[in-house]
Amino acid sequence: MTRRPLRLRRSVLYVPASNEKAVAKSETLACDAIIYDLEDAVAPAAKEDARERLRDHFGAHPQSARERVIRINALSSEFGAEDFLAARACKPDAILIPKVDVPRDIADVADMLTETDAADTIRLWAMMETPKAILNAAAIADWGETEGSRLDCLVAGSNDLAKDLRLPGPNRAVLQPMLMELVVAARAFGLDILDGVFNAFRDEEGFAAECREAAGMGFDGKTLIHPLQIEGANAAFGISPEREAVAASIVAAFDRPENRDAGVISLDGRMVERLHLEDARRTLALAARQRGQEED
Ligand code: COA
Ligand code: MG
Repeated sequence: MTRRPLRLRRSVLYVPASNEKAVAKSETLACDAIIYDLEDAVAPAAKEDARERLRDHFGAHPQSARERVIRINALSSEFGAEDFLAARACKPDAILIPKVDVPRDIADVADMLTETDAADTIRLWAMMETPKAILNAAAIADWGETEGSRLDCLVAGSNDLAKDLRLPGPNRAVLQPMLMELVVAARAFGLDILDGVFNAFRDEEGFAAECREAAGMGFDGKTLIHPLQIEGANAAFGISPEREAVAASIVAAFDRPENRDAGVISLDGRMVERLHLEDARRTLALAARQRGQEED
């Protein structure tokens, strides 16, 4: 499995590139990553200005404390080619490809990037938001293992998926098995996976409940539509002091001379296997990363 660098992706905010105030504000927010959107959040007549705004913004802020991603329109759409050129010129951390149906949809963008970004600095993220993406999830995630694929992260798109499935309304219970399938596909091939958005951005309790559920399903974080949602996502997908303490005690226990060769030990009345050690180390690394972020 391809080893990818550990990234904190608890809170990932969509910022419509057409919204001047929101783009300006984006550099000051406490989210782990930003997705500057040129696709669904931008009306056709506003696309050109939106691209220009991103060029200006990245020109003024060539570096950022946050991971920065640009979502383009599909290459097959009338806006895709121009979006791609604008995004590439901005040199973001990644380009997010919408409505991925098959691995080829990612490969086409990867091929175009290779022409000018041989150093592999711009990564790719894929929106999983069509019925075909659900059916092809394993093949799409598997394609991330291909040399030069650049694929790092899958993003569930629940609004598009619900629309394409003709669900009469938002229905998390119906989507859940499909979302879980995306988590399985991501994990099978070492990718990160982000949950879809929660539309009712003033419903703090409903949002917190959905974050808890998504964290319990194994998602790395949640995509967000409003700054009000950042704190709740950071809390739900972050490493709590309790979890960090448990992880530290597991690492310490396996470090004791008498446990060096043990496959399984007893710790505070629980069975802990060596397989939990890897997870404990990852938890500690994420917690350290989180502290670094808080100090920014
Ligand atoms: N990113 C950055 N800033 C944002 C923001 C976002 N996604 N959403 C709102 N803000 C800013 C507003 O610009 C405003 O800034 P100000 O205080 O400087 O005036 C402040 O937060 C409060 O905004 P508010 O009035 O509560 O929201 P709104 O009614 O202006 O906008 C939405 C509501 C849903 C239209 C807006 O949040 C949005 O466009 N979200 C992203 C939508 C998107 O990208 N969808 C595609 C992916 S699903
Ligand atoms: Mg979409």
